[in-house]
Amino acid sequence: MSAGIKLVAKPGEVEFPKGMEGMISRESTKSFVNGAEGFLCYNGIPIQQLAENSTFEEVCYLLMYDALPKETELAAFNQRLLQYREIPDFTYETIYGMPAYTTHPMAALRTAVSTLSLFDESSEEDTPSALERAGINLIAKLPTIVAAVARSRQGLEPVHPRADMPLATNFLYMYTGEEPSPLYAKVMDIILLLHADHGCNASTFTAIAATSSLSDMYSSVVAGICSLKGPLHGGANERVMRMLNEIGTVDNAEPYILNAIARKKKIMGFGHRVYKAYDPRAAILHGYAKDVTRQAGTEKWLQMAEIIERVMIDKLGKKGIYPNVDFFSGTVMASMGIDPSLFTPIFAMGRVPGWVSHILEQRADNRIYRPRFIYTGPMDVDYVPMDER
Ligand SMILES: CC(C)(COP(=O)(O)OP(=O)(O)OC[C@H]1O[C@@H](n2cnc3c(N)ncnc32)[C@H](O)[C@@H]1OP(=O)(O)O)[C@@H](O)C(=O)NCCC(=O)NCCS
Repeated sequence: MSAGIKLVAKPGEVEFPKGMEGMISRESTKSFVNGAEGFLCYNGIPIQQLAENSTFEEVCYLLMYDALPKETELAAFNQRLLQYREIPDFTYETIYGMPAYTTHPMAALRTAVSTLSLFDESSEEDTPSALERAGINLIAKLPTIVAAVARSRQGLEPVHPRADMPLATNFLYMYTGEEPSPLYAKVMDIILLLHADHGCNASTFTAIAATSSLSDMYSSVVAGICSLKGPLHGGANERVMRMLNEIGTVDNAEPYILNAIARKKKIMGFGHRVYKAYDPRAAILHGYAKDVTRQAGTEKWLQMAEIIERVMIDKLGKKGIYPNVDFFSGTVMASMGIDPSLFTPIFAMGRVPGWVSHILEQRADNRIYRPRFIYTGPMDVDYVPMDER
């Protein structure tokens, strides 16, 4: 038992932060977020340097093995990812059997990822190598699942993965059926890279809590997906685009936001539990948003986004409310022709190496997660028979 924690605590006896804000869950080598300064690094390397020089696959390796790979190591890692891209027929059938009108793509992703474990004969094997293999399998297969989910919703046949293109390019190819432009391929790679890890966020915490009971890699990643689905976490990017569509015109952006602020409405894509300065991932995506909206002819969305950003920072910047990663990722992906309902599944594709790395890290020094509640209900209550209630 840790010092200072009482076995029995009455309401008001122990202070605790709502939403576990700032509480330490464990030590980690994976990523560091300095919210006051708007800084993020993976294994010590600033996110800007990774966005400039690295690739999503290399970042997956970095997070999983705590070092940049040598050329041969990256080639071997890529080979493993390539070999695992195709998904079982049963997973395609599950996706195509889902009711299109009532299935949110995140619900489809959650269900489809669950099926993967059924076809991994070592999914229940509790060894570091089986966990690692399952992790790589998940990183490789999520894009195939997300693309199949997207196409099934449009009544289109799936496009099977190819082994001659990087993961992000191959995803866009499977989604559209066409090889993407170099700019779109690069931007998708950056989007995945920027989402790869982010400290002890809600979904990573959920994945770690699941694996801490020695549950398998697939179940733990599904737990992460379930948490990411919520609008306060991964679901915000979809809602940013919904808001831009609701605003409709550049002229309406400022009055809409001023009105929303006056009504104390939360603006999606702004604010963060940790960042109280500009989210560095949003700054990187803002740069790419200029190129993408120009190529796509959707400059209007960027103009609207920039007006919203200006008004929000002007009115709420002093409270530490700045754009977060979801704000510009929505504009960028919509301009690339991606349906907003796919934004959160794409976030999951990017975050899976983070979940996998933290699951492996947790398992290397595991102790079951077991926080406590302060019980505030009544005590010493006698059971009342049904006819006396
Ligand atoms: C991310 C988020 C959940 C963080 O929540 P949190 O740390 O619990 O912060 P709170 O919700 O307590 O907000 C603190 C204050 O800032 C305000 N605030 C936070 N986010 C805001 C937003 N997006 N728009 C307007 N005001 C916001 C709150 O209203 C609150 O104001 P108050 O002190 O006057 O009551 C929250 O900022 C949010 O809901 N953002 C929108 C969703 C989003 O973009 N999520 C993606 C995160 S990457």
